[in-house]
Amino acid sequence: MELLKQRILKDGKALNEQVLMVDSFLNHQVDPRLMQEVGREFARRFAGDGVTKVVTIESSGIAPAAMTALSLGVDMVILKKSVSSILCEDILQTEVFSFTKQKTYQLTLKRRFLAPEDRVLVIDDFLANGEAAFGAIRLLEQAGALVVGVGAVIAKAFQPGMEKLREAGYRVEALAPVKRMGEGLIEFLED
Ligand code: G4P
Repeated sequence: MELLKQRILKDGKALNEQVLMVDSFLNHQVDPRLMQEVGREFARRFAGDGVTKVVTIESSGIAPAAMTALSLGVDMVILKKSVSSILCEDILQTEVFSFTKQKTYQLTLKRRFLAPEDRVLVIDDFLANGEAAFGAIRLLEQAGALVVGVGAVIAKAFQPGMEKLREAGYRVEALAPVKRMGEGLIEFLED
């Protein structure tokens, strides 16, 4: 997605070979116009897949996922990373390890927001090692839903997540797949 790639080149910053800062439009401050275009692009790519729910993981996935759900005309469900005392009824949980944060959390879904007949599109801001995406898929499949694909706003293609998901048979669409980066350098894969 050219608009997104240009924005990453303009306002993103590769801190090193592993970490891309995009906090001025995606992770901290959010550009809603750009997110609307991101949502339209995911909706276009998954238009023929009969998506009935968009699922994301809090917190930075919420903006692109909400815009995708709006474009597809379906609801969005947020997978929570911690369980509050009021979220105790009929929940599904799975453990996810974050390499970036070096910690484990319980990804949590209230069962009544997903039905076995749902066809789900998983949307997240970053796809890196794929631990969060695989955790989301485990929960959704436990709920009996069908995962039609995974959409990442930015995928770090040099990390294993994208390939592992595809090897496992899931369709992955990355709007800005990063091939390589380093201080002052960000290179994308060809579409
Ligand atoms: P994985 O799910 O693909 O295995 O990745 P990992 O656990 O390592 O990622 C943990 C968090 O770090 C995620 O956000 C992910 O979006 C973010 N992340 C990974 N690589 C980058 C990067 O290069 N740049 C930025 N800005 N973020 C990255 P999170 O913990 O879920 O935080 P948030 O959604 O609340 O913002």
